[in-house]
Amino acid sequence: MNRPAFEGLRLNVPAHVKHARLVSWVAEVAALTEAKAVYWCDGSEAEYQRLTEQLVAAGTLLRLNPARRPNSFLARSDPGDVARVEDRTFICSERAEDAGPTNNWMAPAEMRTLLQTGDKALFKGCMRGRTLYVVPFSMGPLGSHIAHIGIELTDSPYVAVSMRTMTRMGSAVYDVLGGHGDFVPCVHSVGAPLADGAKDVAWPCNATKYIVHFPETREIWSYGSGYGGNALLGKKCFALRIASTMGRDQGWLAEHMLVLGVSSPAGRKYHVAAAFPSACGKTNFSMLVPPEQGFKGWSVTTIGDDIAWIKPQADGRLYAINPEAGYFGVAPGTNYKTNPNCMDSLKRDVIFTNVALTDDGDVWWEEMTPEPPAHLIDWQGRDWTPEIAKANPVNGKPRPAAHPNSRFTVASIHNPVLDTEWDNPNGVAIDAFIFGGRRSTTVPLVTEARNWTEGVYMAATMGSETTAAAAGQQGVVRRDPFAMLPFAGYNMADYFQHWLDLGTRLAAEGASLPRMYCVNWFRKGADGKFVWPGYGENMRVLEWIVGRIEGSAGGAENVFGISPRYEDLRWDGLNFTREQFASVIGIDRSAWQQELGLHAEWFQTLHYHLPAELPRIKARIEQRLAA
Ligand code: OXD
Ligand code: MN
Repeated sequence: MNRPAFEGLRLNVPAHVKHARLVSWVAEVAALTEAKAVYWCDGSEAEYQRLTEQLVAAGTLLRLNPARRPNSFLARSDPGDVARVEDRTFICSERAEDAGPTNNWMAPAEMRTLLQTGDKALFKGCMRGRTLYVVPFSMGPLGSHIAHIGIELTDSPYVAVSMRTMTRMGSAVYDVLGGHGDFVPCVHSVGAPLADGAKDVAWPCNATKYIVHFPETREIWSYGSGYGGNALLGKKCFALRIASTMGRDQGWLAEHMLVLGVSSPAGRKYHVAAAFPSACGKTNFSMLVPPEQGFKGWSVTTIGDDIAWIKPQADGRLYAINPEAGYFGVAPGTNYKTNPNCMDSLKRDVIFTNVALTDDGDVWWEEMTPEPPAHLIDWQGRDWTPEIAKANPVNGKPRPAAHPNSRFTVASIHNPVLDTEWDNPNGVAIDAFIFGGRRSTTVPLVTEARNWTEGVYMAATMGSETTAAAAGQQGVVRRDPFAMLPFAGYNMADYFQHWLDLGTRLAAEGASLPRMYCVNWFRKGADGKFVWPGYGENMRVLEWIVGRIEGSAGGAENVFGISPRYEDLRWDGLNFTREQFASVIGIDRSAWQQELGLHAEWFQTLHYHLPAELPRIKARIEQRLAA
């Protein structure tokens, strides 16, 4: 095989890499970026140890006390690089209409000039002084017919080690790829070339950031950030934005959904895929611990906590895999009450980013324990005490020790309630979809859609209140359809159509479609406090959903769908009155009139290609409301 070299840089292609197109692409990117060296990751434990040691020596990682948190590290990012950057995320389809009104768009040729070909192209020379890591990964079990392969070229060793945890990363990917297999090319640079002899910083990045997707050629180019979804390109960029366009073209779904198994005392098991916007407790729901009283014999097991790839199979059912192999979860708020299984997942082999450091070399974040330690080093490396925090308030609250978007990166295999089928290459058959937003009013605790189209309507109009809302006040509702607002790789109205078409196709084939539910854990009382206790108590709703699937649970029709009556839920071990229940399940006519007005505005935004079924469903809800 021809192994290209350029300008003296040895590509060092491993013997088992047999894919000529891959090798020449690596050579091209190395030449464009002027990387100092090329290193092909093999995904081995020895490599992980070597790279983490190197990151410790560079000051990017700090090794935590092995007696408290074995084989675990803390990274502190640049304070300007702490989250996904939605305003810097682009879908560069050939036609602006194909990106749609909810995405940032730039013409592909213009973007390529900016990134690759122009005189001042950002990627030209951007890896000078740095090693280019070739990271081969499979999204989904290796060789699964539902899985797909990506190759990330990155100048960040932090990204390389994180990808090993978050995906099936390593040399075995090349065997699946063979000489001609398809892969999604992902190029990532922190955008911080190093001059000869210059000292590096602990978290290199650039104030200029571009997270770019070319859906037609299925490419990802990411510049300037080393953080999370901006840099671990298998996650939001590939598994959602690029994969959603693959799904549109090939007849499947790439969704921002957790997938869980729920087993009943009768020994029956169901699989549920659930879409919630960021920061609505997806990881908690995917690892839910059922209440002790009344739920003996019930269990919830995790297949995935964030993303699902769902493909129809010959039996007419929809099968889901979790394309990821690890969790990149938000740390603050996680504790032994809210998510004991997650806490147990984090006992070892974790990379924490932007949490606080305790005096004994362990980690801490807000609400991890009822009382904070007396002294910490905060996420920016500063001394932190409750007094310092109070003296330096942020948004009127004591300055947090951990960044609100601080994260843990841990392999799924550490999850004590990992589902035995989580790695099944055929996936699991989905019995129900759940769509949930964060609404302090209006949307009931749980509602079943009467049919697929009503379910799509619920998902297309779901939304969350912006968190700036003062207690007790209704915030501004940001529509987040299917929890995919920042993640759909194409026009949102076409995405709704794709869901409708899939339902029509499966029904025509005689399939029984999964049921669809809209949930809202977040209704508030007059005191501004959440009425529904949430967390493990959400099992009561899950049991009702299972009962509906089995045909044993009752409910009552409302304008929006079918919701449980008080007597349809199990209340053992929870003191929750009929009045409280009424306040989380009720339909308030004037709130719904206002809500439907907002749906109309939302549909106006998406008028291009909006499926006619959606305004039709809206008109039907209006009629019922008026009746
Ligand atoms: C995530 C997100 O990090 O949705 O999963 O923002
Ligand atoms: Mn997410």
